[in-house]
Amino acid sequence: MEMNLLQEAVTFITSCYQELNKTQSEIDDRISEIAKEIQIDGTYSHLPFEIDYGAKLAWRNSNRCIGRLFWDQMHTFDRRHVETEEEIFMAIIDHMKYATNHGRIRPTITIFPPKSHKQHVRIWNHQLIRYAGYQVETGIIGDPSSIEFTKICIELGWEPKFGEFDILPIVIQVNNNPPKLFELPKSSTLEVEIRHPEFEWFKDLELKWYGVPFISDMALEIGGLRYTAAPFNGWYMGTEIGARNLADEERYNMLPKIASCMGIDTKSSISLWKDKALVELNIAVLHSFREDGVSIVDHHTAAQQFKKFEEKESESGRKVTGNWAWLIPPMSPATTHIFHKPYKNEIVKPNYFYQDTPFSKEE
Ligand code: ARG
Repeated sequence: MEMNLLQEAVTFITSCYQELNKTQSEIDDRISEIAKEIQIDGTYSHLPFEIDYGAKLAWRNSNRCIGRLFWDQMHTFDRRHVETEEEIFMAIIDHMKYATNHGRIRPTITIFPPKSHKQHVRIWNHQLIRYAGYQVETGIIGDPSSIEFTKICIELGWEPKFGEFDILPIVIQVNNNPPKLFELPKSSTLEVEIRHPEFEWFKDLELKWYGVPFISDMALEIGGLRYTAAPFNGWYMGTEIGARNLADEERYNMLPKIASCMGIDTKSSISLWKDKALVELNIAVLHSFREDGVSIVDHHTAAQQFKKFEEKESESGRKVTGNWAWLIPPMSPATTHIFHKPYKNEIVKPNYFYQDTPFSKEE
């Protein structure tokens, strides 16, 4: 176990320090310091610049992410000293404010204490902002993907509102203590009402989405240390909202309604009503975010940026790993270069990993 940790640390320190043009003796010194720390404590701690660079490398290595061109422009909040749920929640609010930046979104990560024999911090939410989902007698209200977590929030004392877009509370757990719930203030949850540049009726669908996707349930692994609470955000690619969240049958399932408002025959699939509705929904998402001054990227621009990332990586003598099935956009994939080439889905560390949900999975 300890040998493993040291090996992971050595691998990380060596490549991190080399990329940062540090000398071999700096590498050697740091490694012997870490070895000593591990021998005494069973673990070690990163220097601030090491977690900052490690978090960036983890983004660069994220095979499913099309937005990696900007990997070295992420802001790190080092919050490894916080202890209580209240302090963690305050740091989350700081993160949200800084990252949202009134719509000019800044890629940001906040790093809480890593998992150790003394400490284990978890944020139970999948994303810091997410809409509740309720299974009621008449069907489902809200986001179906949140049904299980919403139920847990209610069991923990959260008051359900039974709306289509209710922002869930933040649930924070420290060690084996019961999790604590915190309601997000309105001022930190920027939302965009979806309207269409031509279809007047579109706004009457009363669709909206939140401005910033803050992933909060993944573990950041750097040099053998696991940061089990390390929420991070970029900005949205339009299709995530328009071709998945609001469109998937298992999510808000809006295509039939949009198509019928457009006056298209939804009886026969050869009218391509789904495709037509999908395009207009995605136009509406991009238009609304753009008009409100909230950062968003369309999938064509994102693919071009990814191409630039691939070129820059190859100039730096590095291989780009990727997960093709995730990198291709969910609409018009063959219009992007990504569709037409293979990617090696090899896992390189540092990286962000899924971790077990801290709450039970049973229905
Ligand atoms: N696909 C997720 C969602 O729709 C967000 C994943 C992260 N996306 C991003 N652009 N950084 O909420």
